[in-house]
Amino acid sequence: MSQFDIPFNRSSLLGRELEYIFNTMTIGQIAGDQTYSKKCHTLLERTLGVPKALVTTSCTHALEMCALLLDIQPGDEVIVPTFTFVSSANAFALRGARIVFADIRPDTLNLDETLLDSLITPRTKAVVLVHYAGVACEMDSFCATARRHGIKIIEDNAHGLFGKYRGRWLGTFGALAVLSFHETKNITCGEGGALLINEPAYIERAEIIREKGTNRSLFFRGQVDKYTWVDVGSSYVMSDVLAAFLFAQLEVWPSIQSRRQQIWRRYFEELAGWAKANGVRLPVVPEQCEQTFHMFYLLLPSLAARQALIGHLKAQGILAVFHYVPLHLSGFGRRYVGKAGDYSVTEDVSDRLLRLPFFSALTDTEQMRVIEAVRQFKP
Ligand SMILES: Cc1ncc(COP(=O)(O)O)c(C=O)c1O
Repeated sequence: MSQFDIPFNRSSLLGRELEYIFNTMTIGQIAGDQTYSKKCHTLLERTLGVPKALVTTSCTHALEMCALLLDIQPGDEVIVPTFTFVSSANAFALRGARIVFADIRPDTLNLDETLLDSLITPRTKAVVLVHYAGVACEMDSFCATARRHGIKIIEDNAHGLFGKYRGRWLGTFGALAVLSFHETKNITCGEGGALLINEPAYIERAEIIREKGTNRSLFFRGQVDKYTWVDVGSSYVMSDVLAAFLFAQLEVWPSIQSRRQQIWRRYFEELAGWAKANGVRLPVVPEQCEQTFHMFYLLLPSLAARQALIGHLKAQGILAVFHYVPLHLSGFGRRYVGKAGDYSVTEDVSDRLLRLPFFSALTDTEQMRVIEAVRQFKP
């Protein structure tokens, strides 16, 4: 049992998860790419209008597939925000890429689009865009710059499934995009992810890479009479047991999103006065962005105030947490920082950001307890 009455995240059943898992056993389909994986693929493809969706063992693995698909070679450069999860950079570092860190905008905490042009060199292959908290990056600007320089956009859409930018789904802008279904995400199966392929030229090779470098997918579709080793790859296929869990949540995505929207709005409305009076900034969602209600964060006036609020909530049995430690300050990430880069926004935000408990099964009573506890705090 946790020492917290109100954890940061609590998993729950939100649809027919157990029934579908039971079904995978009764129909004898527990390996990958069977009934439930196919249902997930079809739902994602039809809803988002992407040419191909493939569920994977994690978002991290989907990012590794992106690096293989782009044929990243030692010395190639990949631009990544320093305010992100390790995997956004590691997947490319694994193939020998030089990671070029970039700072974020102070409002949305997304990669600052005005920096991209100056970071591109003849060795740049791609830019990884994270739609932080499910609020879109400035895609008009990124798409124009990437097109002008002939580099690829990879959308790390771990937070942004079912979010939009100017009415268009996140995950449909980049050549490739990835999703996470880790337990902290809006829609989950514990551990899992997906690769979305917007440039059809990548589809056939993606299927091969995901199937250990074999053309097994072609074999299953009857397009070849035996399958064999044709390229590099690994084991990125999700088990249908997890796909069954995932599909049960995916098929009820509108109700999950609407519950999360209520939670997000209540935090925003109930904390607005307290935030204003205490120099605390609440999340900013530009009007061209339809966010995903993935998290609710506060930006406290200082690191000391952030730590004090974490302690204050902890004393009341509530777990609030910080988020990314800047990658350029990490033991491994430091090697990529050549001439002192300016990552001052990331460093500042990362010290002051705090995430409140946020999960679909958070009850109104629990949420009011969190709100009241926060309101008692004076930074
Ligand atoms: C932006 C981002 N990318 C990638 C990941 C990795 O996701 P996964 O745990 O599914 O590999 C995370 C994890 O939370 C993340 O926040």
